[in-house]
Amino acid sequence: MEKDKYKSLFAQATAQAFRKIYPDVAGETDELTEVAVYEALAKPKDASMGRFALPVFRYAGLLKDKPPAIAAVIAVETNRQLSSLEGGSLMTCVATGGFLNAQIDPASLAGETVREVLSKGNRFGDSPVGHGKTCLVEYSSPNIAKPFGVGHLRSTVIGNSLRLIFRKLGYSVVGINYPGDWGTQFGKMIVAFRKWGSDDTLKGNAVKNLVDLYVRFHSEAEADTSLEDEARDAFKQLETGDPDAVKLWETFKKVSYEEFERVYDLLGVEFDWVYGEADLNDRMEPVIERLSKAGLAEESQGALVVHLPEETNLPPLLLRKSDGATLYATRDLAGLVYRWEKYHGFDQSLYVVNSAQADHFRQCFMVIDMLEKAEKRPGSDRMSGRTRHVEFGWVRFGGKTMSTRRGNTVLLEDVIGQARDLVKEKIKEKNPALPTIDETALHVGVGAVLFSQLSVRRQKDVDFQWEEVLSFEGETGPYLQYTHARLCALMRRFGKDITGEVDCSVLVGAEEQRVIELIADFPVVLASAGEQYEP
Ligand code: ARG
Repeated sequence: MEKDKYKSLFAQATAQAFRKIYPDVAGETDELTEVAVYEALAKPKDASMGRFALPVFRYAGLLKDKPPAIAAVIAVETNRQLSSLEGGSLMTCVATGGFLNAQIDPASLAGETVREVLSKGNRFGDSPVGHGKTCLVEYSSPNIAKPFGVGHLRSTVIGNSLRLIFRKLGYSVVGINYPGDWGTQFGKMIVAFRKWGSDDTLKGNAVKNLVDLYVRFHSEAEADTSLEDEARDAFKQLETGDPDAVKLWETFKKVSYEEFERVYDLLGVEFDWVYGEADLNDRMEPVIERLSKAGLAEESQGALVVHLPEETNLPPLLLRKSDGATLYATRDLAGLVYRWEKYHGFDQSLYVVNSAQADHFRQCFMVIDMLEKAEKRPGSDRMSGRTRHVEFGWVRFGGKTMSTRRGNTVLLEDVIGQARDLVKEKIKEKNPALPTIDETALHVGVGAVLFSQLSVRRQKDVDFQWEEVLSFEGETGPYLQYTHARLCALMRRFGKDITGEVDCSVLVGAEEQRVIELIADFPVVLASAGEQYEP
């Protein structure tokens, strides 16, 4: 964990003060050590109170005194201790009721922060914690011949952001896209296309047309159950390499990838490694063999399953159905092994996927753990404990979630298109003479959509409200871009490079200090974003 220098100094001085004033108690508890105090330091609610605050009431029982009384004596002693520590004279400890507040000489903090930013430039906030370590991040992973909906948007945006965060933390990062290009639904798609599709289906908005066929398949299959049998046969054809079935499947893939690329370009999202579920077809059997050899795979009513320990409360993981078909989970097991073989010894392998799949990942990770234990692999050869499901919540529109089955998915392209159009209206109102109106509207619109996904903690659902997302005030994408544009204008007007010769002694007003503190916090915030997988 990245340590804040001033926070460390303050924790050291305060811990020394506790030892001096309450030697008996301090000798008997861990709560008053430098480490414990560092952990207990928080940000004061009111920024003008200081840079950090130590809530003293937590020690009232331990020290058998009233918080304000403790704070008063400890403040005096902390200041004495600070004056004898290097750099400590720039800090002051102030007792405010039951809190000890730490204040830093504003001009010094401003000077140090600004000099650090100027000398590091874009490398400001970089950290060596990840040096020599590899971190795999899987994100996006949309499904072929299905629309790129807002659900995959969230994975895409969070994952791409984590990729950048881990990079700044010094990791060597592999961004993975794992599109869903296999499964019985392709049997349905093939049947639907053979029945109702044509060359025209593949022109224009091809994915949308394919989705329409898929939706039609489901509504017609409600009346005519033979369609489901046909679909099963078509999937068998695909599995056994029937040329016509394979050709259709390849076509679905091609038009889908073209659409994905458009989306990724628009969002500025990149990947280092792309492979689909179908690429694991030859990798499942070896894993199943390993599981059988380890005595973990068992026959159950013709199917092959792995039973999980009772205390996990998880259902058995189905490896192979009684008709011989493998499953999504079988492919994920093969994929876990594939990633481990390719990036052996990785530090972390993250799956940025909706929390609805939490049990699926728990099952898969548990099976790998059981396998590695059964095989008695040494710790250095175990991926178990290094894999993690980075969950996130739903995206709702006006309180409703959307599903593909019934064909009411909200398409990402529609969302972005609408954002662009709404922004354009606003620009026409405010700045009708703007020559780049279309381009600007698109950039502001995309920024608004991205920001809406990143500004909510990932576990929470995002409720998408146009008025909020596109507002030019408050915590929104448009406001962020507006602020950035204004800063750029300031720089332009200044007309020179900002160099090391800056007089920071003027940056001591309350507002300037707030900005300085936010900047000074950036490295620590970045590190904790990485630790919590929380852009
Ligand atoms: N394609 C899947 C879906 O859209 C998500 C894949 C998630 N990643 C994984 N390794 N299972 O639901």
